[in-house]
Amino acid sequence: MSTEPQHVMAIDQGTTSTRAIIFDHRGAIVSTGQLEHEQIFPRAGWVEHDAMEIWRNVRKVVADAEASAEIGARDLAAVGITNQRETTVVWDRTTGEPVYNAIVWQDTRTQKIVEELGGDAGPDRYKDRVGLPLASYFSGPKVKWILDNVDGARERAERGDLLMGNTDAWLVWNMTGGVDGGVHVTDVTNASRTMLMNLETLDWNEEICADMGIPMSMLPQIRSSSEVYGKGRTRGFLKDVPIAGILGDQQAAMFGQACFEKGMGKNTYGTGSFVLMNVGTEVVHSQNGLLSTVCYKIGDQDAVYALEGSIAVTGSLVQWLRDNLGIISSAPQVESLAASVEDNGGAYFVPAFSGLFAPYWRSDARGALVGLTRYVNKGHIARAALEATAYQSREVVEAMNADAGVDITELKVDGGMTANELLMQFQADQLGVPVIRPQVTETTALGAAYAAGIAVGFWSGTEEVTANWAEDKRWEPQVDDAERGRLFRNWQKAVTKTFDWVD
Ligand code: G3P
Repeated sequence: MSTEPQHVMAIDQGTTSTRAIIFDHRGAIVSTGQLEHEQIFPRAGWVEHDAMEIWRNVRKVVADAEASAEIGARDLAAVGITNQRETTVVWDRTTGEPVYNAIVWQDTRTQKIVEELGGDAGPDRYKDRVGLPLASYFSGPKVKWILDNVDGARERAERGDLLMGNTDAWLVWNMTGGVDGGVHVTDVTNASRTMLMNLETLDWNEEICADMGIPMSMLPQIRSSSEVYGKGRTRGFLKDVPIAGILGDQQAAMFGQACFEKGMGKNTYGTGSFVLMNVGTEVVHSQNGLLSTVCYKIGDQDAVYALEGSIAVTGSLVQWLRDNLGIISSAPQVESLAASVEDNGGAYFVPAFSGLFAPYWRSDARGALVGLTRYVNKGHIARAALEATAYQSREVVEAMNADAGVDITELKVDGGMTANELLMQFQADQLGVPVIRPQVTETTALGAAYAAGIAVGFWSGTEEVTANWAEDKRWEPQVDDAERGRLFRNWQKAVTKTFDWVD
C-alpha cells in the first residue's frame, strides 16, 4: 500500500462561515467541517468579524473534517487557503493580538476617506495602477481607518509592531508559528484587492501606501497563488503539512471552474456574487465599471488577469429576509416562498446595503423596495429578492460583453444559491444564454485545493483540473425578448431610486 498522501485540504474562510474540505485525487469531496462566525454590526453600514474567533473556527473545522474522514495530517499532501477578500485584519506581531476587529469588505465606514483620497482627481485616481476605483470595498482605506482611529495604533505601526492582511495572511501567519516566526505572506490575488499593489509589476506601490499613511513594514510579502509558503507548525494542527496555495475566493472559484483560457468566466453566488472573466496575461482596463484584478499566478509563471463584476449583496439578502424580516426560517425556503406567486407582482428590491458595487460604484446608494401596492405579499418580496440577484448579474455580464466586444455564449455558475432552481432559470431567462452548473459546486474550495496540490506535484497542472471538471445541469433561456426587456428596464428604474441616500 502506498504511503504517499492521498488527499489535499482546502480552508475556505468566507464571509459568513469557515470551512475545511478534504478532496481526493479526482477532485471529489471526502469530508467537510463548517462553522459560522458572528457578524458584528456596531453601526449602520459597519460590518466586523472577530479575527480570533475566525482563527479558532479554522482549527475546529480542520479537526472536524479530519475526524469525519478519519484522515490525519500525514495523509494530506498540502493545504490551500481561500478567503473572503478585502476583509482587513491588523494585528501585533509581538503579541499575536488583532488591534481591532476585522473590518469586512461590505463595511462602508471608509466612504469619507475614499472621497478625500480621490480629491480633485476623483474615484479613478489610482485606477491605472491598481485596476480599482476608490471605494469603501477595498483593504487599504480600511487599514488607514484603523491607524487613524485605534488609540496608539499609528505609533505601533510606525515602530514596526503591526502587520496587516486579508484573512489569508492572518491565517497563514498563525498556522506557520504566529509570534514564533510566523510567515507573513499573501498572494497576488489578495494583494490586488488592497488598492496598494501595482497590477503590472505585482509590487506594493509606495506612493499609494504613503498617501494612505500605511507603513510598508505592515505589508505581507506578495507571493504567487501556488507555491509552498511554509508548513503547519502547531502540534495536532496540520503539523508539517505544506501550505501551498492561496487564492482570494472568487479567483479560487475561477481555478475550480477550470477557467484557464482567455474569455472563460463564471459567476459565484455567495454572500455577494462575483462574475469574473479570464483576460489572459495582459491587464485589461474596463470602460464599463468593472474591476481589473489578478486571476491567479502559478509559481513563477506569468500572472493571469481577470475582469470582475462585483455585486455586494445577493445571498446575504436572503439571510436578511430570514434574520431581519423573519419571512422565511431557513435560506432554502426562499425558493418555495418565491414559487408561491407567479411573478414579482410589480415589486423590485435593490439591495444596496453596502452602496452599489459594479457597474455603478455608488457608495451613497442605500437599499430600496419599490413598486409596492396592497397586492404585494411576502411571496412577491421573496421573488423580488431572488430576481435582484439575476438582474445584478445581468448588469455586470453586459458590462463584460461591452468591454470584451463580444457577447458571452454561456455562464458557468457555482456557490450555494445555484441549488435554487427558480433563480437559475430566471438567471438564464435574464441573460438570454444557458447557465451551467458543474458537479462540484464547492468550486472555491476546490480551486484552492488544486492550487496547493499543483504546487506539491499532487496534480500535474491545470490540464488535470480541466479534465476533472464535469457538467451537472444546464438551464436554457425560456422567455421572449420583450418580457426579458420589460423586467430589466423596470429594475434599472428601481436602481435609480437608491442614489444619494448618504449625505
Ligand atoms: O470580495 C468579497 C468576496 O471575496 C466575498 O465572497 O463568498 O464570502 O461572499 P463571499
